[in-house]
Amino acid sequence: MATLANLDSYQARIDSFLKQQLDQLKVNDPTLLAAMNYGLLIGGKRMRPFLAYTTGEMLGVALPDIDAIAGALECIHAYSLLHDDLPAMDDDDLRRGQPTCHRKFDEATAILAGDSLQTLAFEILSNHKFIGVNAGQQIQLVRKLAFASGYQGMCGGQAMDLAATDKSVELEHLEQIHRLKTGCLLQAAILMPALCVEDMDPAHIGLLEQYAATTGLLYQVHDDIIDITSSEDILGKPSGSDIEANKSTYPALLGLQGARQKEQELYANSLHALDALPYNTQNLANFSTFIIERDH
Ligand code: IPE
Ligand code: IPE
Ligand code: MG
Ligand code: MG
Ligand code: MG
Repeated sequence: MATLANLDSYQARIDSFLKQQLDQLKVNDPTLLAAMNYGLLIGGKRMRPFLAYTTGEMLGVALPDIDAIAGALECIHAYSLLHDDLPAMDDDDLRRGQPTCHRKFDEATAILAGDSLQTLAFEILSNHKFIGVNAGQQIQLVRKLAFASGYQGMCGGQAMDLAATDKSVELEHLEQIHRLKTGCLLQAAILMPALCVEDMDPAHIGLLEQYAATTGLLYQVHDDIIDITSSEDILGKPSGSDIEANKSTYPALLGLQGARQKEQELYANSLHALDALPYNTQNLANFSTFIIERDH
């Protein structure tokens, strides 16, 4: 299994940053705040923060500046999971080895906790006292995160995912769903740190974009595979959930072998995009390996 440099320290760092963000909120509704804590702080691999820290450090961005980017990304991700599990969406009862938020609390609370985490993401980005990021760049960060999360990104992809349930869709269409619902946010985790660097060579940004897009897609293809091949105990979420819900997935469309072959192609492409970047890209390469080896 590939090991990721600094994974533990980045996880500890983002956990403490996020806890601080929630701890400083004035308590209006203790149940809602408890649900936000539950959705944000209990478990999670922190892959988007990991990517933000790894890319940011590779590009020389100050760690306290990356905190805000990583924190905002994880708030959006946590919100997307609270809503993804709702009865109106994937209707799942288990997440990160615990009852899903709407099971632990109730549906209205899970919806509002998701809404509150989404807006918290933008509060974090807009309130943060950045060290090496000017006001113009800060707006670019907000814009990138909003784009990746909304209609043209995660939410649009989630809607397409639901519309493709109980249907057989073309491979190209499925790829678009995966790129949007999961790829966009992972891509933002790599490209937001790049926005903090002034005068970055556009050719290098292009290569980073290519790596980010391929890796984002790869992440969801592998998520589809482990939904079948891994157990509920290891996943911390129900296994076979996609088949039960008759979801459009890579294994459903290509078969397990075909999905694995597609994954290998994407993996090779992701490494290839890193080749010409004049930075030490070893940690990003290890991330790609980590994705295809992960069992949860
Ligand atoms: C699961 O995301 C949902 C997808 C977008 C594939 P993660 O695999 O990052 O889940 P956590 O945050 O580690 O629980
Ligand atoms: C989730 O995709 C994508 C999101 C935007 C949350 P899935 O529905 O496959 O994620 P899991 O398997 O429930 O974590
Ligand atoms: Mg889903
Ligand atoms: Mg789901
Ligand atoms: Mg899944």
